[in-house]
Amino acid sequence: MKSILQQEQLEKIKYWKKKRQALIIAHNYQIPGIQDIADFVGDSLELSQKAAQAKEKLLIFCGVHFMAESAAIFSPNKTVLIPDLNAGCSLAASIDAEELRKWKKRYPKAVVVSYVNTTAEVKAESDYCCTSTNAIRVVQSIPKDREIIFTPDLFLGDYVARMTGRKMYVYPGECHVHARVRPKDIFAKLGQYPGAEFLIHPECGCVTECMHYVAVKELPEEKTHILSTGGMMRHAKTSKARQFVIATETGILHRLKKENPKKEFIPLREDMVCEYMKMITLDKLLNSLVNLEFEVKVPKEIAQKARIPIERMLAIG
Ligand code: 13P
Ligand code: SF4
Repeated sequence: MKSILQQEQLEKIKYWKKKRQALIIAHNYQIPGIQDIADFVGDSLELSQKAAQAKEKLLIFCGVHFMAESAAIFSPNKTVLIPDLNAGCSLAASIDAEELRKWKKRYPKAVVVSYVNTTAEVKAESDYCCTSTNAIRVVQSIPKDREIIFTPDLFLGDYVARMTGRKMYVYPGECHVHARVRPKDIFAKLGQYPGAEFLIHPECGCVTECMHYVAVKELPEEKTHILSTGGMMRHAKTSKARQFVIATETGILHRLKKENPKKEFIPLREDMVCEYMKMITLDKLLNSLVNLEFEVKVPKEIAQKARIPIERMLAIG
């Protein structure tokens, strides 16, 4: 049950959203209240597709800064607002354009594939972008004789290199939320829930170890799935399993439970919480709508260059 104050706040957000003719989009890790009021909730790929197609002139991006930047890159004629400018990303912060230029000098023949969790400046230095949904497809689309620099996620990069068999120079960046997952967490939780399926995000620190445990049959192949947050949503809906252990940021549990009320979702670790995603609150969303704060702008020259790798990614799908 919502309190009268919460109801009033939601009414105000709806009023201002209509008045501003805004589109509110939210990532799967946002707090439940934000997910419930958003027009669209999705993973990084779905959000960039939605932002690129939106008819609305005002986008309120409830997610982290690099995601809002991608929307701004695609929509130079739209206003993109983020409710809190401090909503960053430890993974995106692990590489800057200067560092990437050094890697490009070191491997001058390599094609650069950057995860979307990067700044606009890093994207502007890249040949392709990818998300956790399409990283394998993007790498497979690159001619086989080309070497690849993959930035900035070490675990996703290693996973993609193993899945595609490609020669890849993987940058050693990581997300502090996913990096802490260890195999002992997995074995302990699956011991507690032996009938559960196990859904793990490829940013997790032990994802390649998981592949090894599947290969040696210490983890059941048919019950272990390496998926993006959007992939987890789709899998949970269609799977016949009743219980799922979820190895990603815990914000996704709200949507999983809401859309699958008869199934049970168990977080692998309760402390997989991204404090940046949680900076976006209903108060700050209302402030964005009322005061048109805080605009995310990308300098024209950077945006022009950064659009190319994102467009290549969206064409691959
Ligand atoms: P997804 O693309 O799977 O939603 O992942 C985004 C992210 O930030 C993971 O930490
Ligand atoms: Fe970045 Fe990790 Fe937060 Fe995702 S969970 S937004 S990768 S810090």
